[in-house]
Amino acid sequence: MINPMDLSGKNILVTGASSGIGKGIAVFLSKLGANIIMVARNEEKLKETSKELESGNHSYYPFDLSNLNEIEGLIDNICSDGKKLNGIVHSAGISRTVPVQYLKLDDLNSIMSVNFYSFIELVKHFSKRKYNDNGGSVVAISSISSKVGARGLSAYCASKGALESAIRPIALEMASRNIRVNSVAPGMIKTQIYDGLTEIVNNKDFEKDLKKRQILGLGMPDDVAYAVAFLLSDAARFITGTTIIVDGGYSAH
Ligand SMILES: NC(=O)c1ccc[n+]([C@@H]2O[C@H](COP(=O)([O-])OP(=O)(O)OC[C@H]3O[C@@H](n4cnc5c(N)ncnc54)[C@H](OP(=O)(O)O)[C@@H]3O)[C@@H](O)[C@H]2O)c1
Repeated sequence: MINPMDLSGKNILVTGASSGIGKGIAVFLSKLGANIIMVARNEEKLKETSKELESGNHSYYPFDLSNLNEIEGLIDNICSDGKKLNGIVHSAGISRTVPVQYLKLDDLNSIMSVNFYSFIELVKHFSKRKYNDNGGSVVAISSISSKVGARGLSAYCASKGALESAIRPIALEMASRNIRVNSVAPGMIKTQIYDGLTEIVNNKDFEKDLKKRQILGLGMPDDVAYAVAFLLSDAARFITGTTIIVDGGYSAH
């Protein structure tokens, strides 16, 4: 039996692997045989994710991605034992709900740094021959918020729009190096971001109301992980510069 999504022996760097969607992605990719290199700030949580991975040559690096000038050093450190990377999944992301009148430049900068600028730095260094195993696949976790507005989320929506706009030119530039670049745009997924949101709106019927719009209901981290695994695998070898929407029908209206 063949498995077109087999990732055996592939070295995949997953940012945001300490929780939520990134954690779900790390665990699922390990089940497909990938060696996972996990990046996030919280070391304890990275250790917890490690324990849930299928056995393999996994590692984790506590790191704050808003330190943009240190990202090359991070990649260099990861590859210091001669390891080369086959893929990157950028799932690290932050959001803050602030109406635009109160949005400070500092808020905008921190959201853009983690969600977008760090992605550019990661791809830039991933594509260098000394770190890269003859090509590979890059997947950015965007959001349906790149296409649909929500009050108070101008910085977040802009950061995801920037990601999606950037993957097209980057895909064009990277094709000759055999690197494919895509994104996945989830709708509402059950993670701590979602739990925080339901607390803020204090609405017991939130999930029921959500289903009126997101017709397949609330998504789970695995739903995003399946699309990411596909884009990383050879099954997607003819796909680059595009976005897979994983939103339970939200944008079908
Ligand atoms: N949940 C949803 O409904 C939803 C929908 C669409 C898109 N998304 C996107 O999916 C991605 C994951 O979100 P989630 O729901 O899984 O949220 P989450 O559980 O809060 O996870 C966010 C991850 O980003 C990491 N992170 C945040 N700031 C960082 C920094 N400065 N440096 C390094 N890592 C950092 C966090 O790790 P540390 O705190 O350990 O650093 C954590 O692992 C985000 O890009 C989000 O925009 C989520």
